[in-house]
Amino acid sequence: MNSVHRGVKTGFHSLPLCSGFAKRLGMTSRPIIALSSLDETRALGVRVAARLQAGDVVFLTGGLGAGKTTLARAIIETLTGVSDAPSPTYTLVQTYETESGTPLWHADLYRIEDEGELEELGLEDAFEDAICLIEWPDRLGDWCPQTRLEIDLSMAGQDDTNQSDNGANKRQVRIAGRGDWETRLDDI
Ligand SMILES: Nc1ncnc2c1ncn2[C@@H]1O[C@H](COP(=O)(O)OP(=O)(O)OP(=O)(O)O)[C@@H](O)[C@H]1O
Ligand SMILES: [Mg+2]
Repeated sequence: MNSVHRGVKTGFHSLPLCSGFAKRLGMTSRPIIALSSLDETRALGVRVAARLQAGDVVFLTGGLGAGKTTLARAIIETLTGVSDAPSPTYTLVQTYETESGTPLWHADLYRIEDEGELEELGLEDAFEDAICLIEWPDRLGDWCPQTRLEIDLSMAGQDDTNQSDNGANKRQVRIAGRGDWETRLDDI
């Protein structure tokens, strides 16, 4: 079960509890994973999906086009059978149900402008009993859950002129878990 942290009031979009990455107290991080193709990103999505259960929140961070939605799609397809899940860029949230009946939420909070919108979405309840994949989680402000898996994607090897695609399909990923994720990240 998850709980939304509301103990520290921060300015919206200024989130000490959500920002930064693996070095914070109580977080477990793994070595950087290199992804050299879309297939490798999808394979990571399959491995992550295998570890997810009701009440899990996954933060997907990284710049525009880093591959957050691509990874989310792989997780969604693995858990629900839905291929080519639409990006929630404009709808903010797309909801699914896993094959075992757990609700699965995929949110893109980039366009969230105030915390009232988060309340309207119903994210707080979803954090309790759904699997939530959250792009742009820095928008969560005081709604930031304490326990979460953080997956940070970034471009890698874009200047690698030896690659036939100039490295355009390369990404690197940092994974960090907070809370009970410590043991659940083995062999990711
Ligand atoms: N190894 C890779 N992993 C993920 N995406 C890749 C990879 N190689 C190429 N791509 C391409 O990069 C793009 C990533 O787009 P995607 O929508 O997943 O990014 P995003 O991080 O969700 O961006 P946004 O912040 O705009 O939502 C896609 O066009 C995808 O095909
Ligand atoms: Mg996206």
